[in-house]
Order: sequence, then structure tokens, then C-alpha cells
Amino acid sequence: MKWFKALNTAQIPFADSIKAIEVDGKKICIINNNEKIIATQSYCPHAGGHFSGGWCKNGYLVCPIHRYEYNLETGRGAKGQGDYINIYSTEIREDGLYIGFEERWWSKVWG
Ligand code: FES
Repeated sequence: MKWFKALNTAQIPFADSIKAIEVDGKKICIINNNEKIIATQSYCPHAGGHFSGGWCKNGYLVCPIHRYEYNLETGRGAKGQGDYINIYSTEIREDGLYIGFEERWWSKVWG
């Protein structure tokens, strides 16, 4: 796991809001769902909708375009969708929010 500082403490989104950022070249949405900070990919796999305009409902992230839903813990799409989103590890440290990306074998070879 490779960790990157994503936001200073004061930049972490308030309760029930979503912020779009870029970390290590990846477009990410930081979601504050009931005071739990979650990091997901920023675009919807269905047709590319941007989750920054979405909202959370019963533990799911809802895409604003066609309202597909994704589990905020597992990334799995709701029943019948057959898709998923990436959920990234997060850590609140003394100086802000960090996001961890899994290191893949190819990233070690090609960076
Ligand atoms: S683009 Fe997200 S549900 Fe269609």
C-alpha cells in the first residue's frame, strides 16, 4: 500500500458532503457519510457520471445521472447492476487525510 496525503484537516468535507480531488493522478471523490470518510473513484462505471454531484443513501453512493447505487464499504453495485467502483483506504492523521493505493506488480515495473 502506498499512502498519499490528499487533504489538510480543514479541507476534509463536512458531514454528508462529497468533494472531488486528484491524488497521484487519480480522480477521487472524498465522501463524508455520517462522519465516516470514504474515498472512491470519481466517475460512475455505468456511463461516466461524476459522483461529486451524487449523494449517500442507506450506506450507498447514488450517482446523480441515472441513480445507480454503490455500496460505500465494498464498492459493489446494487442488486441487478453487476458493476462496482473502487474504494480506497483512508486514514485521518494529525496533519490531514491520507489515501492508500494498492501497489500492483506492474506499478513496480513501470512506476
Ligand atoms: S452514469 Fe451513473 S448511473 Fe448512469
